[in-house]
Order: sequence, then C-alpha cells, then structure tokens
Amino acid sequence: MEISAIVILSVTAASAVLAAVLLLDRLRRADRRSRHLSKAVNSLTDQLRQATAGLAAEKEKLNSLLSAISEGFLLVDKENKVVMFNKAVEHMFNLPPDDFIGLPLINLVRDHEIDSLVRQCLGTSHKQTATVEVDKVKHYNLTAVPLEEGAFVLVQNLSHIRHLEKVRQDFVANISHELRTPIASLKAIAETLQDGAVDNREVALDFLQRIQIEIDKLAQMVSELGELSLIESGDVPLNMKSADVAAVIERVVGRMAAQADRAGNRLEMGTPPDLPAVRIDEDRIEQVLVNLIHNAIKFTPPGGRINVSARAEKENVLVSVADTGAGIPPDDLPHIFERFYKVDKARSGGGTGLGLAIAKHIVRSHGGDVGAESEPGKGSTFTFSLPLAESRR
Ligand SMILES: Nc1ncnc2c1ncn2[C@@H]1O[C@H](COP(=O)(O)OP(=O)(O)O)[C@@H](O)[C@H]1O
Ligand SMILES: [Mg+2]
Repeated sequence: MEISAIVILSVTAASAVLAAVLLLDRLRRADRRSRHLSKAVNSLTDQLRQATAGLAAEKEKLNSLLSAISEGFLLVDKENKVVMFNKAVEHMFNLPPDDFIGLPLINLVRDHEIDSLVRQCLGTSHKQTATVEVDKVKHYNLTAVPLEEGAFVLVQNLSHIRHLEKVRQDFVANISHELRTPIASLKAIAETLQDGAVDNREVALDFLQRIQIEIDKLAQMVSELGELSLIESGDVPLNMKSADVAAVIERVVGRMAAQADRAGNRLEMGTPPDLPAVRIDEDRIEQVLVNLIHNAIKFTPPGGRINVSARAEKENVLVSVADTGAGIPPDDLPHIFERFYKVDKARSGGGTGLGLAIAKHIVRSHGGDVGAESEPGKGSTFTFSLPLAESRR
C-alpha cells in the first residue's frame, strides 16, 4: 500500500474515533442532565402530593365542621348558582340525592322568596335578612352576605321554636277553656241555690255534692299546672327517704275516697303486709298516685271499682292502679304519657292533659318506670315501679 493511502486511512480512523468519543461524552452529559431533571421532577411531585394531601385534609376538616353545624350554610356564585352547601341544608330542604352544584339556587331551595333574597344580596352587594315560611310549617331565618365571588347564605331553622310557641299558645287556650267549664258550672249551681233551691234540703245537698265535684276538677288542674312549672323550672331536688309505700297508698286512698264516692265509684286498696321499704320522695309519689287515681275516677262510669295495689318484684316495688272504666284504644295507648295527649278531647271530662306526663316524669326521676295496659270497655291498669331502699342481692 502506498504511504499516502495509509495516511488517509489512519486520519479517517482517528477522526471516527474522535467523533465516537465526543458523542459518548455528549451522551454522558445528557444522561447526567436528565438524571438531574428527573430528580427535580420527583421532588416537585412529592411537594405537590404533600400540598394536595394537606389541602384534602383541610377540605375534610372544613366539610366535617360544616356538616356538624346544625345551621344551614350555602355558597352561591355571582350568577346565583350553587357552589356548595352543608348537610343541614340537605335536611332542611329535604333534598333528593341529586347533584345541585352548578345549578341555579332555585332548583335547590324551591322557594321564590329565598331565591329573590339571595338575588337582592348579589345585586346590591348588601347583607339581606328575612324570615321565610315554607309550606306553612317550616320557618327559616335567612341571612345572605355578599362575597367577592358570590354570596354566603346562612339558614337557621326556626320550625321547632315556632312549633313550641304554637303548642304553648294552644295550651293556654285549652287550659283557660278547661278552667272555665267548672267555673261556669259553679256559677250556675250558685244561681240555682240562690233562686230558691237552697230552701229544699235534699236538692241543696245534691247541689253541694256537685260543687265538690267541680272543685275536685279545679283542684286537680291547678295542682297539675303547679307540678308542670316545678318540672319546667328544672332541678327540683328530690327529698329521698326510705318509706313504706303501703302507708303512702293508704294516705292517698283515704284522701281520694270522698272524690271516688261522689263519682259513684268504689276505691279500694290491697297491699301485702311484708312489702320491703322503697327510697322515694313521698310528696312526689303521692302526686303520682293522685294523678292516676284521679284519672281512674274520671274515666270510670258510676258503679265501677278502682283498686290500688302493690307487690314486690326483684329490685322494685310495683304499684298498680286498676279501674273498671272506659279503657284506652290500643292506638292511643303508646301516646297517653305525652304532654297534652287526650284520647277523646270532647269526652275527656276536663283536664290539663298533663297528669300522666307528670306522673311519668316523677317516676323516672326516681329511677323507676310507668306503663299502662287496657282493654277498651273493660278497664285500664297503670303500673309504676319504685326501687327498693336496700338492694336485696
Ligand atoms: N284510667 C284511665 N282510663 C281511661 N283513659 C285514661 C285513663 N287515664 C288516662 N286516660 C287517657 O289518657 C289521657 C291523658 O291523661 P292525663 O295525662 O291524666 O290527662 P287528663 O286527665 O288531663 O285528660 C286522658 O285524657 C285519657 O284519654
Ligand atoms: Mg289526668
């Protein structure tokens, strides 16, 4: 081979090698850069992940806070479209499980008064407040506060408070009616006596008897009203002492005998001689017995029998008041211990509708319970339990 050819060949080989070396170096540097890059990307991803987790945790906290609030809370955007709302809003407006986010507010609240209140807030950028009645029974207090991007609406449910107000109004109206009836009877009796009946001894005695009956009713109502205000004022301390419940029953039966007699009913008691002592506030338990016996007399037509008995059972003494009266329909039985509940308002013979609610409250505060069994037309038996003064175990 010629020298020149050898030189050319070796120059070509050398430049090829050089090119390869350069390429390798470039590749190595590119690889180093890409490793740097991927490290940076990884750390960025980590940071992002942490930030998102933090945000999710914050959102979770906010959500649980909002769902725990009993007040309704919702956000709308500038177009009055729903951005978010809490659980209370769901309950208040009885929402189906639809997605309301992004929909006009009216779809959610279905009430033009509420919708226009929020519109007004958005339009004027001023806080708006109103009390709104929905479907006659729901009452809401609404406050719409303008925000930069829409409005925040606070919904307070007043339905429960309004319901209580109504119950109270009805109660006062009913009570004054119930009180007026015996007073009107007393007035009529007094007038009849004045008009001459007083001179006929037999008629006069009969009227006196009737006066007593009306006074029984009035006295019971006044005593129940007093008891109600005692209960409502809260902590009435019970004066608990070890007591002989048979003696308490005897006392009350003695006191109520004349009343039963006037109503033409026989009031009896039956207690075994060896009843264990109970721990009670005697005055309160007397009130329970009076309420139950008063009812038994009131709801038993003349000629009936009322029996008050007691027996020991496990850790309690059970006291029963049984009558042979009108009885209570099965549908009403679960409700008679509720305040103001009367089976037959027209036939109830006057009363506050509170006697049994009071009795239940007193018995429960002694750690006992009260229940009723009844067969309509045959009679009713009310039984309450009282814990023993000393455990028998
Ligand atoms: N011994 C009973 N026999 C029949 N019904 C009764 C008897 N006791 C209570 N009830 C029913 O339970 C209702 C509630 O009793 P209560 O709370 O004492 O109210 P009130 O006696 O003022 O009507 C009564 O109105 C009556 O309908
Ligand atoms: Mg009563």
